[in-house]
Amino acid sequence: MRFIENNKVFKLDSKDTSYIIAIVDEEQFVGHVYFGKKIVDENVNYLLRIDESPYVPSKNNRDRVSFYDSFPMEYSTHGIGDFRESSLQVRDSKGHTACKLQYVSHEIFKGKKKLQGLPGTFGDENECTTLEITCLDKDLNLEVVLVYTTFENLDVITRSVRVKNCAKDSITLTKVLSTCIDFDGVNYDMVSLHGSWARERHISRKKIGYGRQAVSSIRGESSHQDNPFIALLDNNATDESGNVYGFNFVYSGNFFTQIEGCQFDTTRVVMGINPEDFEWVLQEGEEFIAPEVVMVYSNKGIGKMTRTFHDLYRNNLIRGEFKDKKRPILINNWEATYFDFNTEKLLSIAKEASKLGIEMLVMDDGWFGKRNSDNSSLGDWIVNEEKIQGGLKNLVDEVNKLGMEFGIWFEPEMISPNSDLFRAHPDWCIHIEGREPALCREQYVLDLSRKEVVDYIYESVKKVLSSANITYVKWDMNRQLTDLGSIALSPERQGELFHRYMLAVYEMMDRLTTDFPHILLENCSGGGARFDPGMLYYSPQIWCSDDTDAIERLKIQEGTAMVYPLSTIGAHVSDCPNHTVGRTTPFETRGHVALAGTFGYELDVTRIPEEDRDMIPTQIEMYHKYNDLIRRGDYYRIENFSENHGFDAWTVVSKDKNEVLVTCVQVLGRPNYHSRRIKLKGLVEDKMYKIEESDEIISGGALMYAGINVSLYGDYSSKIIYLTAV
Ligand code: GLA
Repeated sequence: MRFIENNKVFKLDSKDTSYIIAIVDEEQFVGHVYFGKKIVDENVNYLLRIDESPYVPSKNNRDRVSFYDSFPMEYSTHGIGDFRESSLQVRDSKGHTACKLQYVSHEIFKGKKKLQGLPGTFGDENECTTLEITCLDKDLNLEVVLVYTTFENLDVITRSVRVKNCAKDSITLTKVLSTCIDFDGVNYDMVSLHGSWARERHISRKKIGYGRQAVSSIRGESSHQDNPFIALLDNNATDESGNVYGFNFVYSGNFFTQIEGCQFDTTRVVMGINPEDFEWVLQEGEEFIAPEVVMVYSNKGIGKMTRTFHDLYRNNLIRGEFKDKKRPILINNWEATYFDFNTEKLLSIAKEASKLGIEMLVMDDGWFGKRNSDNSSLGDWIVNEEKIQGGLKNLVDEVNKLGMEFGIWFEPEMISPNSDLFRAHPDWCIHIEGREPALCREQYVLDLSRKEVVDYIYESVKKVLSSANITYVKWDMNRQLTDLGSIALSPERQGELFHRYMLAVYEMMDRLTTDFPHILLENCSGGGARFDPGMLYYSPQIWCSDDTDAIERLKIQEGTAMVYPLSTIGAHVSDCPNHTVGRTTPFETRGHVALAGTFGYELDVTRIPEEDRDMIPTQIEMYHKYNDLIRRGDYYRIENFSENHGFDAWTVVSKDKNEVLVTCVQVLGRPNYHSRRIKLKGLVEDKMYKIEESDEIISGGALMYAGINVSLYGDYSSKIIYLTAV
């Protein structure tokens, strides 16, 4: 990364990517020159087209607006003539909204600063370099710092923004996005991860033309419906070829991202906090920090983008003791018992599970207050000793005696109207005074913008965690935010509530992971409504979906794995008929699919068919054999069953290319056909690989270009194929 003085160019290079920014001399505008495959040139300012009509304002001041409306500004602002999507919008003390940024100074340094109070990627001085460009709106005296970090060995550039009020009067920020890039051309496709509860992150690809196509959340969570990820790609890009630009927002609340095909055949991409229901007041000297966007460039299709995200997140986002550790195989009692359990029932599950090799019992929702269904007690984090007879410590000790660890479920951000906490503090929930807040799953959301609420809840969770040998926490969040209002905020600050809420959630997670560094934290949000990089900063794994059906999971896990590493994807084997879709799949297939995630069980092991139970030790053996490879390896999509009439396959290849695990699932059997042929990916052409099952030895080239035959019989059948280099 360097500044080339005579061209006024910033050249940000990473492994195979260049990102180029230039300052336009006359008026010190910061322009975007190029983002894509690495180039050596430094004199590429011609790409800005400032020698073409409508010309820079110094040459043609009568058409200043036309200039603003066509110039590729690094960070677009509202109200001066750029009518494409703005990135920054304000309301000053007189009610005006225009803003114009000009370059003031810059700084380049090794490493990367932490974004205060926010999750973010990290890297040391050998891994990354940071550029901070300081701009100013002279009339508002508003300073805006554009922050860029390049990761030298990965095709990754991150961006964030700091906005500081240097004026005497306060100013209200009404929109602060984190990234803005103008691409040349309009022939792009967009990939996003769309869904709903129980069918999160299905891959959606569409052609982008002129006009605006947005993906967003205004639910107070990153959401089941849309993930804070989009990719912009060449129309003809495939999994292996073409230019792909991935954008992922390191934030777990409301987001907005948009691709806009513009009049002069350029395409603008923006991403950041959703401006809807967002305002932030800055007093003199105060600063606002916008969360980080991770931008990944791939010149070799979607697959390379995926693997870059995986590497970055495994090494430079996830923290803590479990970052690169094999996770204990757990059994969770949710689908086994729902709310109907007690010490005896849990211990009978644990006893059987321990015999089979399962390593941890997780007690899910229903152990506290008077919670026997989802209509009460959130906020009353006191063990219900009518169910947990003998107390929590006794239960945990008994589970420990079986050689198993113990984990527990919380939903710390919520309050039930039917709870002692609500009866004592009816104003502790997010609400608008005088208006009855809407219920969702019969619960309200705590007003975490209030320190006393955060402290009370955190301390009550901490008390439970300190009372016994608990080594895992499932942190759930089961409703969306509505009726936004806080009695602790002044009228002009009500628009801060959504973001203040997120900052408080992050602060609580920070306290939890600091006070209990040995606890494995798994995030969850009604299944996978907060599967985002913000959460991964605190928890190395996230429950992917409440839908545990092996076939539904193919779509959910494939979409999730487009961005997030397999090591982060919470996946369990559950009982059949599946509780969400009523489908019955072979126990073996359920195991193969769950292996492509954290792996665990979610069933009553004392009540499942004997032949299923008998399979558990073999599945556990497979987990121990393959998990290092699955957690650390490179992931390749091979076949997608919605595209090819019923067959799905993926593979994980070790970094040294010596170990390969292929998983195949036949969703629907076909009569009167030969076996299916699949072509592997990511191997070394002239290495020889041995297929474990058959002892056949085949070259990497043959496996990749000619392929192997896979025979499966029956609907929902599956197999794994393990190969090692010889
Ligand atoms: C959410 C979670 C489930 C389970 C229930 C408990 O739906 O996603 O796994 O914990 O809450 O109420």
